[in-house]
Amino acid sequence: MITQATIHKVKESKYSVIFPVYEKEDICPNVLERLGYDVSSLIDRKLGAITKIATLGKFDFPYMIFFGMGEEEKLTTKGFRDALGSLFKQLKETAVFNCKHAALKRDGFSEQDIAYYVSESFILSRYQFTKCNAEKKKDTVELQLLSHDDVTEAIQKGMDYSIPVNHARDLSNTPSNLMTPQHLADYAESLANTYNLECTILGNAQLEEIKAGALLGVNQGSALEAKLIVLKYRGNGDEPFTALVGKGLTYDAGGYNLKSSGGKGMKYDMCGGANVLGAMEIIARRKLKANVMVVVPSTENLISGEAYKADDVLVSLSGKTIEVTNTDAEGRLILCDAITYAIQQGAKKVIDIATLTGACMTALGGVFTGLFSNHDGFYEEFMKAATMQDEKCWRLPTDEAYVKLLKESSVADLVNSVAGSAGASIGACFLEQFVEEGVEWIHLDIAGNADFKTEQPRGPKGATGVMVRSMAQLFE
Ligand code: BES
Ligand code: ZN
Ligand code: ZN
Repeated sequence: MITQATIHKVKESKYSVIFPVYEKEDICPNVLERLGYDVSSLIDRKLGAITKIATLGKFDFPYMIFFGMGEEEKLTTKGFRDALGSLFKQLKETAVFNCKHAALKRDGFSEQDIAYYVSESFILSRYQFTKCNAEKKKDTVELQLLSHDDVTEAIQKGMDYSIPVNHARDLSNTPSNLMTPQHLADYAESLANTYNLECTILGNAQLEEIKAGALLGVNQGSALEAKLIVLKYRGNGDEPFTALVGKGLTYDAGGYNLKSSGGKGMKYDMCGGANVLGAMEIIARRKLKANVMVVVPSTENLISGEAYKADDVLVSLSGKTIEVTNTDAEGRLILCDAITYAIQQGAKKVIDIATLTGACMTALGGVFTGLFSNHDGFYEEFMKAATMQDEKCWRLPTDEAYVKLLKESSVADLVNSVAGSAGASIGACFLEQFVEEGVEWIHLDIAGNADFKTEQPRGPKGATGVMVRSMAQLFE
């Protein structure tokens, strides 16, 4: 829990007090005098460093935690957010963060900004996935913020931006025996009920009716029905919708092009879907002025006597036919139908997000999201939003030369995969084939950063919830 503290409360509390301290900053002489000894030389002021000093009864609280802020001029919002992450992960007792001490007279570092980063970082970095543990330990550490100004709204904004990220992480970390397409649909429905969103869930019968043959093709090997999950939020009259389309592949074994790894980690193949649901929750919590549609195609990619095979030809919702050249390139198949559906529903801008290609992971690792776009203005708008949220994206190319390779089928309009290089661009170009004239489009490949095998700056290992905040920020 996060609240704004009053001076009075702090004096009476048994909390630790966190003092942000910049590189060249002197510690207040009154504090030193009251402590009874000069701690200045003990304090590590490097960004993110923590020096914990016992107050030994000299103050009303047991510990002072000096929090290194590094050099004032060099402090960036990303550096600060990550440093807060390491601070809050280590916190063992309830604490008061002194915002006014960290504030700077420059853009992005007002008391309000600091309060927002602190609140957001606290919730993100203390996240734990506990759903599958019999003993669920509740986090009892609380945080209070001390400030000059009223920062209640900034605290709320931090919560609005972080709680949905943790919900997305929860969905993604849940193993695929529990997180089935039906479960994902149920979650979307509960979100719709909480925030008064329009919700439509299409099952196999309706998907057959509308002829979503690419999504159904991938679904053939699964004992579970596919779901096309659709949420609509109307916050701006009759402005055309922007669609957030997320890959909701609850488990990717590869199909008959079976993954040699056995598919370990492939429960995370629905992170795109989870993350667009997270973005929608932020948008709804903040009541943003925009019309946003979320579309999540969801199924498993498995093998069985009924599974789709290489050489099969699928007829997509758009009418374009696709020769399956690799059953493991299933993401683009479920997404192409979802993109067509979004456009049929009136979307004029589309962002799709997917753990699409191992090639993107190889190119960018866990550091950047791979970004592709057909529209420079939309690309710039999105980059601005991502920069504000300190999430890194790198634009990669689409090109006619890649499209040509995708059109080299002798039996269909397109192939779903091309052996060889440029896998991330080829995946993007495949999706672009389904983006109709006049629709602005961004594709985000999060294969490398949807989940981390080691701890992340503001979270544990596992699902990151990457791009949830950036997608929502776009509508602020
Ligand atoms: N879900 C995978 C991509 C992936 C790989 C995500 C590793 C996270 C980590 C996707 O469905 C896939 O299998 N893609 C293939 C495409 C290829 C067959 C054209 C790939 O990247 O190997
Ligand atoms: Zn695959
Ligand atoms: Zn996949």
